[in-house]
Amino acid sequence: MDVHFSFLFSNKFITLLLIVFSQFIDCNRAARLDWWDSAIRLPSEKDEPVYVDQEIGTRWAVLVAGSSGYGNYRHQADVCHAYQLLRKGGLKEENIVVFMYDDIAMHELNPRPGVIINHPQGDDVYAGVPKDYTGANVTTENLYAVLLGDTKKVKGGSGKVVNSKPDDRIFIYYSDHGGPGVLGMPNMPYLYAMDFIEALKKKHASKGYREMVIYVEACESGSIFEGVMPKDLNIYVTTASNAQENSWGTYCPGMEPSPPPEYITCLGDLYSVAWMEDSETHNLKRETINQQFQSVKKRTSNFNNYNDGSHVMEYGNTSITSEKLYLYQGFDPATVNFPPHNGLLGARMEVVNQRDAELLFLWKMYKQLENSSDKKRQILGQITETTRHRTHLDRSMELVGTFLFGPSTGSSILNSVRAPGIPLVDDWGCLKSMVRVFETHCGSLTQYGMKHMRAFANICNNGVSQAAMEEACMAACSGHDVGQWHPSNKGYSA
Ligand SMILES: *[C@@H]1O[C@H](CO)[C@@H](O)[C@H](O)[C@H]1NC(C)=O
Ligand SMILES: *[C@@H]1O[C@H](CO)[C@@H](O)[C@H](O)[C@H]1NC(C)=O
Ligand SMILES: *[C@@H]1O[C@H](CO)[C@@H](O)[C@H](O)[C@H]1NC(C)=O
Repeated sequence: MDVHFSFLFSNKFITLLLIVFSQFIDCNRAARLDWWDSAIRLPSEKDEPVYVDQEIGTRWAVLVAGSSGYGNYRHQADVCHAYQLLRKGGLKEENIVVFMYDDIAMHELNPRPGVIINHPQGDDVYAGVPKDYTGANVTTENLYAVLLGDTKKVKGGSGKVVNSKPDDRIFIYYSDHGGPGVLGMPNMPYLYAMDFIEALKKKHASKGYREMVIYVEACESGSIFEGVMPKDLNIYVTTASNAQENSWGTYCPGMEPSPPPEYITCLGDLYSVAWMEDSETHNLKRETINQQFQSVKKRTSNFNNYNDGSHVMEYGNTSITSEKLYLYQGFDPATVNFPPHNGLLGARMEVVNQRDAELLFLWKMYKQLENSSDKKRQILGQITETTRHRTHLDRSMELVGTFLFGPSTGSSILNSVRAPGIPLVDDWGCLKSMVRVFETHCGSLTQYGMKHMRAFANICNNGVSQAAMEEACMAACSGHDVGQWHPSNKGYSA
């Protein structure tokens, strides 16, 4: 369990060292720094002043968990953890807006009622998290309104918005399921890449910030920015994966490192825990955004094992990465003696791809229940129904491709991937309407079905009309009772 090494290192070990060397610290700060530097090695940073304060304006943050359901525990755990990290860094509650469904802490399956953890040995990260936008109020419309500081457009929730000024810095962090060009939300509709980028452009045009840093964890999250993220908005973005691969859940039951045995759901996501555990074990007044990017990239690749990891990507203005992290994430005084960058990455982690995490959760629940109980039968039914709907979606999509482009080229057109730097789709309005047509005839895409967004994009890119799509979907899905399907993206409900 090498992965806990950095965790132990950061807390107990350093505390011990500080106690042992406390006299040293009190009488001679310079000597102590020298000792520390040579022990942990940061000679290259030695001549650089530790506190170059570029701090003007206010730090803001927007944190979004885009899912719901106990099977998606990890996304809300990530976001709560991020909230605690930023508060320790000195950001004020009034400057952090949290979007989370908030159905985890008090969920009947939660073995620790009122507590959420994001690491197998982690402390509670739920206490104190503000309920700004919860339940039905977690919507893309509210997210845009909050980001733009538009109190009039906000519906429900606390009404807190990013009321930022030209000198302020904004940090956005999003954790959820996604698909090519889209990020999930617990309430429909999804977040479409182009709408999000439009909101960023508006925020820029209104001189609402100095610089912005955005971290996104989701499957195919690179596709949200690939070819569409401008470089001139003073925004830097990193994503957990490139435009065509999964992102990964971690700290999952039955895997290493595993959660406490009473948990049947994953506690975190690979990229998310990588950046947060990195931030917690470094001095963010000295670590640059680029240094964090490099560490997170290595760890999220699972040390160059892309069957169990993904390519962390960057977009937008990469000059921003030479800045120190504290300008966005704040600075926790307890980390003052931590190194700025030390390569303590932990070991490889066992992971599950975002889309199978839900089934893994249902399976764990199934295994845990008493033989021949009603609930056990109910869970089995839910697993069967989920896999049946997945098969139906995959098969329908394939048929639509066959009808539109012929049996020999259908699947290669639907699955074709554009070159890096080219957007997923030329006409984002077309993408939305093709999805609408498909869902009308073939049923809800669900969080799993978001993986087919590239097929819809390619249908648009090949100039298929809405009428032709309508016809193909009707033919492919006739006989499918769309009213019957209850999206399972709410996870388990009793
Ligand atoms: C949405 O926000 C309103 C206003 O704050 C609140 O009364 C309501 O309970 C919220 N809905 C949910 C489902 O949380
Ligand atoms: C990128 O950011 C740097 C540093 O803030 C700035 O000097 C540069 O003009 C920006 N580039 C673009 C294309 O806006
Ligand atoms: C359930 O059935 C399996 C296989 O028959 C058995 O090994 C297991 O002990 C049973 N569990 C309970 C809780 O009865």
